[in-house]
Amino acid sequence: MTVSYKDLGLVNSKDLFAKAVAGGYAIPAYNFNNLEQLQAILQACVDTKSPVILQVSSGARKYANATLLRNMAKGAVEYVKELGYEIPIVLHLDHGDTFELCKDCIDNGFSSVMIDGSHHSYEENVALTKKVVEYAHAHGVTVEGELGVLAGVEDDVVAEKSTYTRPEEVEDFVAKTGVDSLAISIGTSHGANKFTPEQCTKNEDGVLIPPMLRFDILEEIEKRIPGFPIVLHGSSSVPQDQVAIINQFGGALKDAVGIPEEWLRKAAKSAVCKINIDSDGRLAMTAAIRKVMAEKPGEFDPRKYLGPARDSLKELYKHKNENVLGSAGQA
Ligand code: G3H
Ligand code: 13P
Ligand code: ZN
Repeated sequence: MTVSYKDLGLVNSKDLFAKAVAGGYAIPAYNFNNLEQLQAILQACVDTKSPVILQVSSGARKYANATLLRNMAKGAVEYVKELGYEIPIVLHLDHGDTFELCKDCIDNGFSSVMIDGSHHSYEENVALTKKVVEYAHAHGVTVEGELGVLAGVEDDVVAEKSTYTRPEEVEDFVAKTGVDSLAISIGTSHGANKFTPEQCTKNEDGVLIPPMLRFDILEEIEKRIPGFPIVLHGSSSVPQDQVAIINQFGGALKDAVGIPEEWLRKAAKSAVCKINIDSDGRLAMTAAIRKVMAEKPGEFDPRKYLGPARDSLKELYKHKNENVLGSAGQA
């Protein structure tokens, strides 16, 4: 039995991206694996009237179970109605690495998939992406491809060094594959330790400032494929107040550094219309949980620490939508 996203009340990303590119904002793509994350994302996006992409990695599917996640996305559509404002919801596979995984998601209610062939040769990436696009489009599902490699950890794949997207490849890639959006590598990176201290400079307060994103590459790409939807992965900002709370209450995060919010705001005003954020949510949850654990050692009801974690996560996402991505008020 197959399940179409249309029957779940979800939408694909086509119209959302067209509006976001034209409007100079980006749609948030927030990863989720559990109930509290999903609640926080939906509450924040309804409160700020923002469209949202619910993003599921293959690791998340293994962790939470594919059937449960799909039904959570179905529940999400009903829940936002209950909250009083219907926002468009996309269910997206993050970093799909095989045709089979993408097909399985398309057959099970996903409205959008990423096929990440960036670790293959250019020709293999084109062939794999094209195959996914053909199947996905036959089912009304949108596809994100990737050119260039981000540093950091993506599921089971660890890339030590990034390889920037080569602008001279993008027209050919988009034309040959038929993808609906393209993830590019311009210096963002996955995880909470995006750069080593040696790669950064320090401001007058001793705060690590990462190397500037390659906006020149983004501009060159925009010239070659005007108005084509661009995606940025690895776009957590790694809020230092959250890192400090984690470390204050027994954590050991060293040299954690992310992408400054002003740079993401600038990117969102361009053809970048989807910005992926996962690590910041992990940090916010962990900080809140560590605080409760440390301050209330007698507490053993999970709701007493997952509740504050959810509240903190909701505030983080509202802030992103309003002040970083510009997606607030666009649903
Ligand atoms: O890009 C990776 C996302 O943050 C998902 O992470 O594979 O650990 O679920 P995960
Ligand atoms: P961060 O690790 O910067 O949150 O990136 C998440 C991401 O790109 C998911 O695909
Ligand atoms: Zn990613």
